[in-house]
Amino acid sequence: MMGEPIQSFLEGGDPPSFDDVMIVPTYSEIRSRKEPDTKSFVTPNIELEVPVISSPMDTVTGAKMAFSMGSNGGLGILHRFMSKEEQALAVEDILRKNAETTGSRLAKIVPAIGVGRDEKQRFNYLYERFKNSLSAVAIDIANGDSSYMIEMIKWVDLVTSGNIPIIAGNVATGEGFIRLAEAGASAVRVGIGGGSICKTRIMTGVGVPTLASVIDCYSARKNNGNFDSVSIIADGGIRYPADFVKSLAAGADAVIAGRIFAGTIESPGEVISLNGRKVKVYRGMASKEVQDDKRGGLKPGTCAEGVSTHIPLKGKAYYILNEFCGGLRSAMTYTNSYSLSDLRNNSRFIKLTPSALDESHAFGTRK
Ligand code: IMP
Repeated sequence: MMGEPIQSFLEGGDPPSFDDVMIVPTYSEIRSRKEPDTKSFVTPNIELEVPVISSPMDTVTGAKMAFSMGSNGGLGILHRFMSKEEQALAVEDILRKNAETTGSRLAKIVPAIGVGRDEKQRFNYLYERFKNSLSAVAIDIANGDSSYMIEMIKWVDLVTSGNIPIIAGNVATGEGFIRLAEAGASAVRVGIGGGSICKTRIMTGVGVPTLASVIDCYSARKNNGNFDSVSIIADGGIRYPADFVKSLAAGADAVIAGRIFAGTIESPGEVISLNGRKVKVYRGMASKEVQDDKRGGLKPGTCAEGVSTHIPLKGKAYYILNEFCGGLRSAMTYTNSYSLSDLRNNSRFIKLTPSALDESHAFGTRK
């Protein structure tokens, strides 16, 4: 039989990234792409029809994006790079859009917060106002495998009596995943250094390919046995539906993405004209530009770990979500997978050579 379980690539000492592997098709009895069920739980109370989440970044997820993602089967995590009062207004905006919608799906309210004293105040402020409307909270910091994070998870659990599911991250390893699960997280964001606007690996030499981190976290969850319901969310470096499918097949329950939703109609930010093209800014939350805007510049002894760029204006986020869902449904028919757990069990991977990767892109369009 061609291909191997994805774990064998990590065990063999070659931590793969998305372009290193491909899923082998199998005999399938699925006759229509409508048959597979793509639903997935992110937290016990949030089940997504399309397990794609827009990232809590200030050029990706404001109220408009959160509503659009939620009302189309995904999820948007409301970014935290604004005052607590502004974040509360954004929550009210999503609630208003929910109240006005004629569609059947309502957007879940999931704000991001950070760690430390001010962020505890942010959480208290939001919790007092929206206690019954919050579906979850995302504790969003660069190095999630830390004492800071564990303390914050425990604090949120204490003040809410464990009533608000927590999405925490980011971590890069199975050990980190287990530490956050033990602390009380319902979902863990997995990926360090893989984001398209990320300079962490270049500035620090630290990081793990996102796919390799997902494999490690999935193995740790399987071997531990106590945290089967704690979700793994692959975060960083999703470019194509294929990266989304490979993440799910390797053990992720959902993915988080920034770049694919940046430049859409719903993403926050002005439309600018640049060299005759309409663009929007997309920037890393640890970029110099964000530090300049929000914190009065880079502090001495620190460096930027993100970059800022322009993304040509795209259409609605819905079309992207739909395209990703289409890719996933098709992958599920190629692998005879009626559910995401079938996809995980049925997927065998091969390693790609550079020429195999080259052949995988639609090379017929090259001049
Ligand atoms: P993308 O989908 O590849 O564009 O990656 C988005 C992810 O990159 C986010 O969800 C964060 O986990 C991560 N990220 C956001 N801002 C920064 C940054 O400034 N430096 C490093 N990583 C970042």
